[in-house]
Amino acid sequence: MLPNQQQWDAFHAAVKKQAGLDLGLYKANQMQRRIIGMVEAQGMKSLDEFTAWILGNRSNAAAFLDKMAINVSELFRNPEKWVQMRTQVIPELLQGSSKLRCWSAGCSYGAEAHTLAMILDAHFSGSHTIVGSDIDQAALGQAREGRFGATDVKGVPKEFRDKYLLQSGNDYVARPELKRYLTFKTQNLLADRFDSGFDLIMCRNVVIYFTDEAKDQLYRRFYDSLRPGGVLFVGSTERINASGEIGYETSIPFFYRKPIKGDKQWRNAS
Ligand SMILES: C[S@@+](CC[C@H](N)C(=O)[O-])C[C@H]1O[C@@H](n2cnc3c(N)ncnc32)[C@H](O)[C@@H]1O
Repeated sequence: MLPNQQQWDAFHAAVKKQAGLDLGLYKANQMQRRIIGMVEAQGMKSLDEFTAWILGNRSNAAAFLDKMAINVSELFRNPEKWVQMRTQVIPELLQGSSKLRCWSAGCSYGAEAHTLAMILDAHFSGSHTIVGSDIDQAALGQAREGRFGATDVKGVPKEFRDKYLLQSGNDYVARPELKRYLTFKTQNLLADRFDSGFDLIMCRNVVIYFTDEAKDQLYRRFYDSLRPGGVLFVGSTERINASGEIGYETSIPFFYRKPIKGDKQWRNAS
């Protein structure tokens, strides 16, 4: 089954209408392969049939979004980055504000947001807030429960595992004291408005599916949403090509800072 451009256009229009998502902002090859896989898995004969199914009911479009999302995550993903977060990034952020406002953008089922909550609670307790956002409703439901599988917790240092995770059957559940930091909400990073004044934005392993233009636009919008001195944390295979042009400074790989006027702390590094 190889749909033609007209069929893809009709499919994009249906998803835009029912779910508000512009599929044109995702890398075409990757996305088309996944969609064709879904059509076949549903036992449908053509993309047109799938388009009609999406148009048939808004909950079908939501189910499509949940399936399209690649939710892979884990607690303390890239552990060395979380050591830098705890020892360097957070202490510097706290020099600028005592209550950190943090955002996990594309949070999936909340592993990244819970990792940060554990670090803040254990080492920097205060009235910090962490909002996690995603387009995937099912993943957000799991994030609100704070429920993780055995593979999610394998990299959690013992001090955090003992203090914050309770075993529940084969799963683990985050202890209730972490909930006071966390809220989760639906948000499309490619269309919805962003809040501003964040100390820390984490957006990791989300933009790999976006076109270069969509990525560039997103990194500019994150810059506007950070307070001066605020930091954007990206994934370990990700780089902001236009970081200097946008205005970011970086001294620690994968952490990009919005400068504070007159402060040379990060500027000359790396
Ligand atoms: C691989 S997960 C990343 C989870 C976590 N940030 C991490 O690094 O472990 C990618 C997430 O991006 C989300 N995503 C994809 N497109 C999005 C969009 N336009 N707006 C918000 N989230 C999106 C997916 O639903 C998925 O949950």
